[in-house]
Amino acid sequence: MGKSFVATNLAAALSRTPGIETTLVDLDLRRGSIATNFGLTVEGGMRDYLEGAVPALGDVAVHPEGERLVILPTDNAPARSAELLSSSRMDAVIAAMRAQPTHSLFLCDLPPVFANDDATIVTSKLDAFIMVVEEGRTTRKQIQDALHVLDQAPCAGVVLNRFDGGLLSDSYGYGYGAGYSDYYNK
Ligand SMILES: Nc1ncnc2c1ncn2[C@@H]1O[C@H](COP(=O)(O)OP(=O)(O)OP(=O)(O)O)[C@@H](O)[C@H]1O
Ligand SMILES: [Mg+2]
Repeated sequence: MGKSFVATNLAAALSRTPGIETTLVDLDLRRGSIATNFGLTVEGGMRDYLEGAVPALGDVAVHPEGERLVILPTDNAPARSAELLSSSRMDAVIAAMRAQPTHSLFLCDLPPVFANDDATIVTSKLDAFIMVVEEGRTTRKQIQDALHVLDQAPCAGVVLNRFDGGLLSDSYGYGYGAGYSDYYNK
């Protein structure tokens, strides 16, 4: 679908916006992929923190070289993820995020909504969620069901991933007309 791909790129882009402190949190506790996207290996990530093996949340934080972004990664290992995400340690993570100044933004990557309860559990604790749908793959029913399940937080937006119709594809009715075609073709 591209959830982690979108989260990675969105976080990287936002982190370059002056005045916003962006943190990308990998909460796909069984199949973390954010660290790999940045070429990092995880030693003591979110799963370890939530299991109590890492004492301080700050010890999980990594700064990819050349980026202003902070990452709280996780690895790829079996985990009692729903239990960990419902724990008081997880509530402490949310409280720590909320205690940051308002120009701090936390983006959390999650497993698929229907894989288990994890996305529902975490979303209920967040201010909003962004849904990633894949062109030609995600069905209308899946979107409707996901919105129904994730009803504890507002949907801040939907990303249509892997759309290859193109901005000027008149056959889809999204064309901008001849004048704008000239502009975009330059
Ligand atoms: N728009 C895109 N353009 C190019 N590659 C993409 C795009 N979206 C996703 N991919 C690639 O597809 C693969 C799967 O994407 P990704 O890991 O983001 O999916 P996911 O929804 O997080 O999957 P999972 O449910 O397993 O966590 C990755 O290798 C990613 O780089
Ligand atoms: Mg993913």
